[in-house]
Amino acid sequence: MALSDTSSHIRLNPKRCVTMIATESLLPKPQGIIRAADILRAGGLVAFPTETVYGLGGDARDDHAVARIFQAKARPRFNPLIVHVPDLETARRYAVFDARAEDLAAQFWPGPLTLVLPLRADAGLSALVTAELPTVAIRVPAHPVARALLAAFDGPLAAPSANPSGKVSPTRAAHVLEGLSGRIEAVLDGGACKVGVESTILGLDGHPTLLRPGGVALEALEASLGMVLPSGGDAAKPSAPGQLASHYAPGARVCLNVAAPLAREVWVGFGPCPGATLSLSETGDEIEAAARLFHILREADALAGEGGTIAFAPIPMMGLGRAINDRLSRAAAPRG
Ligand code: TXA
Ligand code: MG
Repeated sequence: MALSDTSSHIRLNPKRCVTMIATESLLPKPQGIIRAADILRAGGLVAFPTETVYGLGGDARDDHAVARIFQAKARPRFNPLIVHVPDLETARRYAVFDARAEDLAAQFWPGPLTLVLPLRADAGLSALVTAELPTVAIRVPAHPVARALLAAFDGPLAAPSANPSGKVSPTRAAHVLEGLSGRIEAVLDGGACKVGVESTILGLDGHPTLLRPGGVALEALEASLGMVLPSGGDAAKPSAPGQLASHYAPGARVCLNVAAPLAREVWVGFGPCPGATLSLSETGDEIEAAARLFHILREADALAGEGGTIAFAPIPMMGLGRAINDRLSRAAAPRG
């Protein structure tokens, strides 16, 4: 069924350029979920909340829907997408799970862990989702609205973070609309995301490798695997291709590990930072800081303005501090 059959004001764009469409704001009530699932079934795009960040969902089996995700985000085609499924049983239809992957999924799903596993030959996913790699990134989100949407849609959802490529990830429906209004059919408003940084990505196609620090702390993964995890993050030739050096880029310049800011800088504190303009967590709690990170980055950007500087206080490299420092170092990297 084409989208234009279900709604007169939604039209799929057959051309490469993006024509503006009216983006619906849907409530996470049964009616809103049904509407969102209908849009997805008709090949449309719906942004939805997960416990990490908002994702931009489309049917992972539908080349046209997946192509529209890349188009709406202006995302490079070589950068593959994460497939979201409701449970481990469904995940087994798309990826090959060995005993180690089964154990990790049992322990961390639903939750903010993405596993990169060998793609099954009969997976039936769009080749654009995997960027023609022999692997697939797959995750089972914990957010009740994401779970309700997956149940209603009853299929795999490809979903990158719902922001224009290279920009700050969205943790509220309003952030999604700031970046993608007019380019997607709908956003399901589930309030603020609790974790606030994207999922941890673990490569399990061969030797276990940390491809992206995220919502599951490295310490917890290492304890579960009983080994020290090597990191696969080479910005020049990333094994998670989306891990490019410059990402999460706000308009202002970003400086890290600043204990003594200049007067004109917007200083973002962590722990006791007398005189800080904003704070990620006044008590120095990295879980609270992760949950607030992308919202504070947007607020600080608005305060600093074009040409201004945001200075972040040091954040220890432990627990979610690793994911926070990873995102901030990309926000601070020279723009390509
Ligand atoms: O928390 C999250 O993971 C969010 C929510 C919406 O689920 N999604 C998200 O997607 O962060 P995205 O597209 O912004 O980041 C996905 C990352 C990219 O760096 C991409 O290169 C990597 O996953 N990736 C996807 N498939 C891969 C694969 N087969 N091998 C290696 N990396 C892969
Ligand atoms: Mg992203």
